[in-house]
Amino acid sequence: MSKTNNSSPKKPLASLKSTAKDKLAQKMLEKRLQRLQKPKNKPPQPRKADSNIPEKWYRFDKYPGYEQIQIIEKGGEQLNIPSPFFKTHEGVASNTTQISGMTYVNFASYNYLDLCGHPKVNQAAQDAISQYGTSASASRAVAGERPIQGALECKLANLYGTEDAIVFVSGHATNVTTIGYLFEPNDLILHDALIHNSALQGILLSGAKRIPFEHNDWQHLDSLLQEHRHDFERVLIIIEGIYSMDGDYPDLPEFIRIKHQHKAFLMVDEAHSLGVMGKTGKGLHEHFDIDPTEVDIWMGTLSKTLASCGGYIAGEKALIKHLKYSAPGFLYSVGISPPIAAASLAALQIMLDEPERVQQLHARGKQFLTLAKQYGIDTGDSSGYSVIPTITGSSANAARLANTCFEQGINVQPIFYPAVAEGMARLRFFICSSHTPKQITQTVEILHQEISKL
Ligand SMILES: Cc1ncc(COP(=O)(O)O)c(C=O)c1O
Repeated sequence: MSKTNNSSPKKPLASLKSTAKDKLAQKMLEKRLQRLQKPKNKPPQPRKADSNIPEKWYRFDKYPGYEQIQIIEKGGEQLNIPSPFFKTHEGVASNTTQISGMTYVNFASYNYLDLCGHPKVNQAAQDAISQYGTSASASRAVAGERPIQGALECKLANLYGTEDAIVFVSGHATNVTTIGYLFEPNDLILHDALIHNSALQGILLSGAKRIPFEHNDWQHLDSLLQEHRHDFERVLIIIEGIYSMDGDYPDLPEFIRIKHQHKAFLMVDEAHSLGVMGKTGKGLHEHFDIDPTEVDIWMGTLSKTLASCGGYIAGEKALIKHLKYSAPGFLYSVGISPPIAAASLAALQIMLDEPERVQQLHARGKQFLTLAKQYGIDTGDSSGYSVIPTITGSSANAARLANTCFEQGINVQPIFYPAVAEGMARLRFFICSSHTPKQITQTVEILHQEISKL
């Protein structure tokens, strides 16, 4: 664990009470961060050939983003809060993890069904290495196929009952390239206000008009479509199966009804709902018992329930073939590496063979949420599946709480702006199927106790 530099001679905030210190530090931080913000739409300045070039245009240490990181780090030092980021794990992170030789109850990994580290998953990866080596070497269009890649795509297509599926080397890149490639400046993309960064980056790349709608609010989406649909060519609606910061989920049947009504495409990002939602973990369509082909683009990642790294799109043949032949993130990027594909394929098979893992996850999530609510802990709108936040408001409190939980043997990550809105900082607990009832009870008790000390 990284330690604060206590040798600093000046600690002007040290004598204040923690709430007053937080407020002061927060204000100072905000002021300094505001100073860094670029004026928007500033007209280009006329340049003379001999004019001086400001340092900030040719030095990395003058980038506003870098200066922002330094301001936050200094703020942490002044408040005596060690950085909770980039901890080194010494083994498989599941319900527990080893850090600096100590065992912690772990809530900071997406290993929802405990398939990362599963012997069959490890064996599948090792067998694929023995047969194909560690890399696909080049784009699949160029270097050709390894059957394990197609087998994974086939299994994913079967899961959704779609005609086909395609896998990419990164979940984030899956959204960026799919959205960025399929949509254009004459198109409109409406997305949930809490949509993941990867979808936002894809929208930016596409050049389409972007309009967010209120979180989970299909009525707001409907009114936006009534107002804007006819001004655009194609329209895409993007939602998530479980929202990664809040742990709640959308009313899928309503979104499907609206997309039909307005002749739009619907994309669902199942990064956090595959393996979690539905009785057997098949995702949001299983939860609502709807025909999955009602959704145009199913997106998901291989890095969470499926225990490896990468992303997928499942949908109709015309969509998948188009992406395979033309999406830059597929065509100009290496194919998924054979051991990674094999690991995810094995994980998917175990998920389907052992639905009791999903049921166990549901039980633990419910236990955590019920207990947290009994203690009056602010869990936001979480539905108590895989993601349960503890909202602290200030970033300083989130960092402080994460650190005191860590001291008590609990590893959980704090989340600050810009990952969540300002003033909505939180700890984010990821539940996994192997958490024991005792681990959950003790964790929530410690959490309650530490919150009361803030
Ligand atoms: C909703 C959502 N979509 C996409 C991604 C990107 O996936 P990956 O981390 O596998 O690249 C994430 C990452 O956490 C996510 O939460």
